[in-house]
Amino acid sequence: MASQIENRPNYRLPITDPLYFVGRRELLKEMQQKPLDVRILLGGRRIGKTSTLNAFQWSLLDPNIDNIVRVFPVLIDLQVEQPKDLENLRYILIARLRESIDRWKQVPLASLREMYRSFIRQIASGEIAVSFLQQLNIKFNITNPDNERRLIHDDFLLAFLKTVNDLESLKFNGICFLLDGAEFLTSQDWANNAWSYLRGLKSDTAIKPFLGLLLSGYRELKEYQQAVGSQLLNIADIKWLSPLTALEMEEIIECRVRKESIELSKKNLAVIRAWSGAHPYLLQQILNSIFDICQEGVDFSSSSLKVLIENLIYEHDNEFKSWWNEDKSSGSFGDRERLIYQVFMQHRQGTIRSFAQQTKLSPIDVKNGLDILLGTGVIHKVGQGRYEIGTRLFEEWVKWQ
Ligand SMILES: Nc1ncnc2c1ncn2[C@@H]1O[C@H](COP(=O)(O)OP(=O)(O)OP(=O)(O)O)[C@@H](O)[C@H]1O
Ligand SMILES: [Mg+2]
Repeated sequence: MASQIENRPNYRLPITDPLYFVGRRELLKEMQQKPLDVRILLGGRRIGKTSTLNAFQWSLLDPNIDNIVRVFPVLIDLQVEQPKDLENLRYILIARLRESIDRWKQVPLASLREMYRSFIRQIASGEIAVSFLQQLNIKFNITNPDNERRLIHDDFLLAFLKTVNDLESLKFNGICFLLDGAEFLTSQDWANNAWSYLRGLKSDTAIKPFLGLLLSGYRELKEYQQAVGSQLLNIADIKWLSPLTALEMEEIIECRVRKESIELSKKNLAVIRAWSGAHPYLLQQILNSIFDICQEGVDFSSSSLKVLIENLIYEHDNEFKSWWNEDKSSGSFGDRERLIYQVFMQHRQGTIRSFAQQTKLSPIDVKNGLDILLGTGVIHKVGQGRYEIGTRLFEEWVKWQ
């Protein structure tokens, strides 16, 4: 038993193993069919943005993919990279692209799962991007670290098109940049330039047929662009991630039960479903806690459930605080979302119209608020315009405030 806990993946980190990734199938299929589009994927903290980008990445790398255009995916975390300006962003795009290609070339032919595992573990040979750019006679300051290196547009264009050409021998006919943590850009004073530049790339006749863009991030990503009237937003397909469906939740539970050889009683299953509300992160954490208890051979009495829930609430206090966002520091809920959520706590469910009546907000305001509650993963859309309250864990935390 102990070894099963030891082998348990860290369910606080984004999923990188196809075996443990569940759901989001329709979205992945749609993105896979049109990998050269511009997309913005929005979602609250821990709803599964990075995991979905990883899944998109391995689905595009799959040598057996049944696509007319097979596009090479480059995943870049902008929160980690923190580009200093647009010229530096251009360098980072090209550098990570060349490094990813170098890593992919080193991957042995095997099952997709093995290939992806090997791909993310490979280390690109040092300074691969520098030597590539030097071969093209592109001049830039090579003594500086990555975050000081800059490319002008003409050099970016040259490097991009040369890479498109190189990729043909690897059977890829385009490049898709997956920019995770893209809300980082909204806090930069050069953000406007970045949006116009990315938009410009999708108008450039030389680049356009070979470039896909997928930006993922929090609500700021959309709201900032709306406020400044970003042209990128006008051409992007914008999607919110939401909690998993009931079926996907069962799939995760079943996958974890199988992996850790645990039997769950009906009562335990009901606890897991209700308290997680199919929020993927909360579901994984609740499963961890319950499995740990089950390993000790203890079943739930009402008092042990009470202790478990209390512990989970303490454990997730910071997370929930950032969702509730009373101090306006995290860009999650605002007054509008808090108001609508409180109506949910009273009535459990409703429609845009009923929430508009109960909150005195306009239907448009309610719709935008519901999108954010869905994207945070605390409510469900249940069809025919109805919405229902989700995770009880978060609801209980709100009651404690
Ligand atoms: N599709 C999925 N299948 C299984 N587990 C998932 C899935 N999506 C998310 N999870 C669980 O939720 C956790 C958070 O996912 P992830 O890190 O991808 O979210 P995120 O939205 O990128 O978070 P952050 O806001 O911190 O960047 C993962 O560690 C995993 O346990
Ligand atoms: Mg993430």
